[in-house]
Amino acid sequence: MAKTLVTGGAGFIGSHVSQRYLNQGHQVVIIDNLSTGREDNIPKGAKFYKADISDLKTLETIFKEEKLDVVNHHAAQIDVRESLENPQKDATINIVGGINLLELSKKQGVKKFIYAATGGALYGEASQGPSQENSPINPISHYGVSKYCLEHYIDLCSRLYNINFTILRYANVYGPRQNPLGEAGVIAIFIHAMLDGKNPMIYGDGEQLRDYVYVEDIAKANLMALSSGDKMTINLGTGKTTSVNKLFQILGEVLNFKGKPQFKPKRGGEIFRSVLDVGLAKNVFHWNAEVSLQKGLENTVAWQRSAC
Ligand SMILES: NC(=O)c1ccc[n+]([C@@H]2O[C@H](COP(=O)([O-])OP(=O)(O)OC[C@H]3O[C@@H](n4cnc5c(N)ncnc54)[C@H](O)[C@@H]3O)[C@@H](O)[C@H]2O)c1
Repeated sequence: MAKTLVTGGAGFIGSHVSQRYLNQGHQVVIIDNLSTGREDNIPKGAKFYKADISDLKTLETIFKEEKLDVVNHHAAQIDVRESLENPQKDATINIVGGINLLELSKKQGVKKFIYAATGGALYGEASQGPSQENSPINPISHYGVSKYCLEHYIDLCSRLYNINFTILRYANVYGPRQNPLGEAGVIAIFIHAMLDGKNPMIYGDGEQLRDYVYVEDIAKANLMALSSGDKMTINLGTGKTTSVNKLFQILGEVLNFKGKPQFKPKRGGEIFRSVLDVGLAKNVFHWNAEVSLQKGLENTVAWQRSAC
């Protein structure tokens, strides 16, 4: 059994990953500054430190105290718009914070570093089919650049100091506890508006395509990464695309919402088609995204109703 640090464990994805680890008998230590995370997301049985990953001194004390086997790094500044307005803050958390964790992992002999990277905000237009791990990289936000930059540090630290790692590049992750700021934020925003009886806004014609993957499937892959995928970078998604209009339609049916979307002008810089090839995850983890979009959206709606 591994003693695992989950950074960002009070957030959306990190809290599901922490729960999955605890269910399998692993020990979980969480570091989160609660900037977007919430204390009531933290699963029972996890040890919690309210701390910032850019604060090296505090991290050092925690690492010395906890003697960790694995670091699973989910904490991040995830707001794309915020990254464009304040790239320094974005880089301080997503790059410098990550380097802090890597340096301490090296010093304290951590056995594996698992990193929640982005596939959704990384590859350019997927016009030739789903993006593979070696497809051209073309981030269009400071967020995408900072998340990718840490991948290079991880790779370098692995080559210089033999740190073992798995980099997981997520598509657009959705599910209970999701944050409207995240990469699949549109789902949380639509559900919220529909529950309030308001017509959600759609930017552009709504035909833009994304790969929406359910958070429990992502948590399962994080479990696999404890024991496989060593020194690999692996996409996690469904390999399927869904339009924003289709999301609107499914959520409308689940919530019995009769309103219409309010169409707004297309936002600058948005790509049309983003979808990940997940062949490598299938081969290495024997992993598939198992939860259908319909079922995942029903679960998300049920959670959001209960949270209101
Ligand atoms: N949601 C997606 O679709 C998606 C897609 C690709 C990658 N990711 C990555 O997954 C990870 C988790 O994202 P999420 O959607 O769960 O977002 P989230 O905002 O719910 O989780 C991030 C957590 O990190 C914490 N945090 C932020 N800055 C911190 C700091 N300086 N120190 C300590 N804690 C800090 C927040 O309080 C929050 O609990 C992020 O690294 C994100 O880049 C998410």
